[in-house]
Amino acid sequence: MDSGLMEKFRDQGDMLANRVKKRFKHLRKRFLSQNIEVFRLYDWDIPEIRAVVDWYAGHLVIGEYLRRQSVDEWLPLMAEAVAKALDVPRENVHLKARRAGKQDGKRYERIDHTEQKIIVSERDMKFYVNPFDFVDTGLFSDHRNTRQMIRNAADGKDFLNLYCYTATFSCYAAKGGARSTLSVDRSESVLQWASENMTLNAIAPDNNRIIQAHTLDFLKKAARNGPQFDLAVVDPPSFSTTRTRNLQFDIVADHPGVLEAVIAVMRKGGTIFFSTNHQDFTPRMESLNAADIKEITDLTIPEDYVRKRAPIHRCWRIKV
Ligand SMILES: C[S@@+](CC[C@H](N)C(=O)[O-])C[C@H]1O[C@@H](n2cnc3c(N)ncnc32)[C@H](O)[C@@H]1O
Repeated sequence: MDSGLMEKFRDQGDMLANRVKKRFKHLRKRFLSQNIEVFRLYDWDIPEIRAVVDWYAGHLVIGEYLRRQSVDEWLPLMAEAVAKALDVPRENVHLKARRAGKQDGKRYERIDHTEQKIIVSERDMKFYVNPFDFVDTGLFSDHRNTRQMIRNAADGKDFLNLYCYTATFSCYAAKGGARSTLSVDRSESVLQWASENMTLNAIAPDNNRIIQAHTLDFLKKAARNGPQFDLAVVDPPSFSTTRTRNLQFDIVADHPGVLEAVIAVMRKGGTIFFSTNHQDFTPRMESLNAADIKEITDLTIPEDYVRKRAPIHRCWRIKV
């Protein structure tokens, strides 16, 4: 790398480190008093510094929003500057390349094979996260407040968690007094993780079942038993492919169909929380058979995820 470019990167590293250090000082006090150990410190706030920096209980997960002009040396230099500013040892710094868009395979690709998980706290809940091996670590902190909303709404309810991933929503619902929780995902490995999260939070398996299934297969089967849930979370990936069956899922095109199928298994008066991280999503919910539909994005985005560009996720409350 030529020395001019190196100098430019060093300046950017200093700028990023200063910004992150200030943010850490501000957020740490506030979040640690709530026992929240995972939070976002930086998300492409300075236009030329296309990085994202997350704090995971003493670990740093640092990513770059890749583009064609990305240079291999850039991310390690940014990471070195941030780690030094926050006094984080090298072995606790994890670098990720984030690919946006229709690259479902790549995004979930393994980065390493350590199988190492650490335990982090979120309020009075604990979750296993793996900052070592995947781009996604097992805990989506942008839904930290949505999880709390689910817990507050869960008492005495039968709760359905679709695309459940590591079942963090189900753990909150169970802690909120749900009569039952049912977590559905097609991936065997994430469901093992989901079950470990339940055990970690002392949630008994009897009324908190975990099912491996394709969402639409599950809903089709469940519809035969009629309405059976009072509360649901539907938080699908933006795109997914089921190669064995040559099926493509695209949230923009397919959300009305999925939501209609969820409504069919909800009891009257029930509530669905629907969310997407798609960055260019246009809702088409007018024809849904629902009593009320309200976008609640502003209520669900935590302070550390507020940003000037499009929100990290959008979220709707659908009353049946
Ligand atoms: C964005 S994550 C969901 C995040 C989760 N709601 C949370 O709060 O942690 C997407 C999940 O959907 C699962 N998935 C993708 N396509 C699926 C399908 N057709 N049926 C069931 N699960 C699917 C993936 O295995 C992955 O765990």
